Amino acid sequence: MTATQHSVAARDAKRRHAEALGIDDAFIARMIERFYEKVRRDDVLGPIFAAHVIEWTPHLVQMNRFWRSVLFSSGEFVGSPMLKHLVIPDLGRADFARWLRLLEETLSEIGTEAARAHVIDRARNIANSLLAAAIVHQGDGLGPSKTDTL
Ligand code: HEM
Repeated sequence: MTATQHSVAARDAKRRHAEALGIDDAFIARMIERFYEKVRRDDVLGPIFAAHVIEWTPHLVQMNRFWRSVLFSSGEFVGSPMLKHLVIPDLGRADFARWLRLLEETLSEIGTEAARAHVIDRARNIANSLLAAAIVHQGDGLGPSKTDTL
């Protein structure tokens, strides 16, 4: 098997695994729609997004691409999530924890427990990377309470 064939096979296996849990393109679209409805209504996260997102449709399209790339390795996401979050002032642990809670709530409304666990696991890993970068960027030092993972 060539390297290309190997990566195509790995990508197919990843998609099949997700689809076996009920996670397909339609599931992701539903998750994004419901999740951002909650985010926009949220007392803390709503205003942060409102300050940065002028047009929601392109953001939601971009988030669909992002999650299909994460969950299926579809390779269609092009962006710079690290930079986009570093420019948001004072983004911290409580904000990420809230974001994750809303995503969990969304997932428990639309899918099985296995689907929820699968998506949340990936979201938490990414949230931890974004949080770690934010802490370093804000120059807050690296005390233990700051570096504990979410
Ligand atoms: C407190 C938590 C978070 C807040 C307030 C937040 C806020 C934002 C905002 C305002 C944008 C739009 C930036 C722009 O287009 O100018 C954005 C983009 C994005 N966010 Fe978040 N976010 C949070 C957590 C996360 C997490 C945990 C993930 C991933 C699991 C994530 C993934 C993304 C991605 C992929 C983009 C698009 C980046 C790009 O187009 O380059 N966000 N976020």
